[in-house]
Amino acid sequence: MTAVACHNLEFGRTMLDFLACGCSSNASFDRFSVRNYAKGAVRNPNRGYKARKLLSFQPEIGPRTKTSGALLKGVTADTPQVLDLKKESRSPASLTNLFEVVAEDLQTLNKNLQSIVGAENPVLMSAAEQIFGAGGKRMRPALVFLVSRATAEIVGLKELTKEHRRLAEIIEMIHTASLIHDDVLDESDMRRGKETVHQLYGTRVAVLAGDFMFAQSSWYLANLENLEVIKLISQVIKDFASGEIKQASSLFDCDVQLEEYLIKSYYKTASLIAASTKGASIFSGVDSCISEQMYQYGKNFGLSFQIVDDVLDFTQSAEQLGKPAGSDLANGNLTAPVIFALKKEARLRDIIESEFCDTGSLEEAIEIVKRCGGIQRAQDLAREKSNIAIQNLQCLPPSSFRLVLEELVKYNLERIK
Ligand code: FPP
Ligand code: MG
Repeated sequence: MTAVACHNLEFGRTMLDFLACGCSSNASFDRFSVRNYAKGAVRNPNRGYKARKLLSFQPEIGPRTKTSGALLKGVTADTPQVLDLKKESRSPASLTNLFEVVAEDLQTLNKNLQSIVGAENPVLMSAAEQIFGAGGKRMRPALVFLVSRATAEIVGLKELTKEHRRLAEIIEMIHTASLIHDDVLDESDMRRGKETVHQLYGTRVAVLAGDFMFAQSSWYLANLENLEVIKLISQVIKDFASGEIKQASSLFDCDVQLEEYLIKSYYKTASLIAASTKGASIFSGVDSCISEQMYQYGKNFGLSFQIVDDVLDFTQSAEQLGKPAGSDLANGNLTAPVIFALKKEARLRDIIESEFCDTGSLEEAIEIVKRCGGIQRAQDLAREKSNIAIQNLQCLPPSSFRLVLEELVKYNLERIK
């Protein structure tokens, strides 16, 4: 396996770059926020939008292992399943129902998470209640359990190992830490229907709680003593920061290309999901070709998941979203529906570049995105990624766990049906 370099040193360098660009200081956590810098620029319409291009990145996306050109061991001859949302007619699922097959694993995980975070620190003990309390979907650890069990069957492993379980905990800790930091950056008061950590305890506690969880997850990760998994997961933490900076540095940039959007979506969302599914298969000890397919499944599902989220930002009400509809666009975060619509309608560029300074211009932009097929094309893209994700599962033997992994992909698409 050739892993993309991802050492702690590099993570450190990312943070140093972050500090060097003047976005952070001990005196004010607000200045930590690149995105707030950009938001400040939004509030100041005299500042040119090009000024937000803080940093540029070399696109670097894709598998962390060389894809074997050889036929996959264990790949079945099934005809690739192609999803057609209009033809699919199934009873409405819920994540709880879907995850029934790993419900006990998730219960154990919930118990462990509470004690891991709070054990050493009374402030965090109280924040942990908010952080890991009910409300989280636990989609990422569920994916770890599903892939762990689906791949364990291949090698005749009867029960999950403690490494599988610890991986699920690490993944959820990293995910939660990223959301705590994200809510600080986005100044969001509510998440999962509850007040955010920074709203309840202040920015300092929120930043430190996130830092603590990143650090704690790194400690547990190191103790797994599996270099391949350590590299895989530490790269994810770096990707998170890269994704956030990439997003902040391209706000209101109407020249943003679909490929760049997909890279950013990979960094922000798909990277952790891909690491969850690949890491789980590594701990089952399966062939590296199967691990690679699990990585691809996670990546394609993760991209589809993010595209669907971005479509919902246009199609759901503020009540359903728990935040104002169209807020990505309002904040200058140009997602797939907008990128497609920009190719069709020149006026959209003018409105976006004016940063919605005229009353009613945001509503007009949303209308244009809907009218000229931006939503439809984004849905098609999500479907395309989903189809590939389902094909990636074909290396697994049929099992209830593989079935749920497929159903999850379909469930995601049904959110925009
Ligand atoms: C949600 O995005 C945010 C993420 C998926 C990733 C957040 C990552 C960071 C803040 C970087 C973490 C920092 C370090 C040091 C590694 P969103 O705001 O688009 O979605 P939302 O609606 O759920 O808030
Ligand atoms: Mg956010």
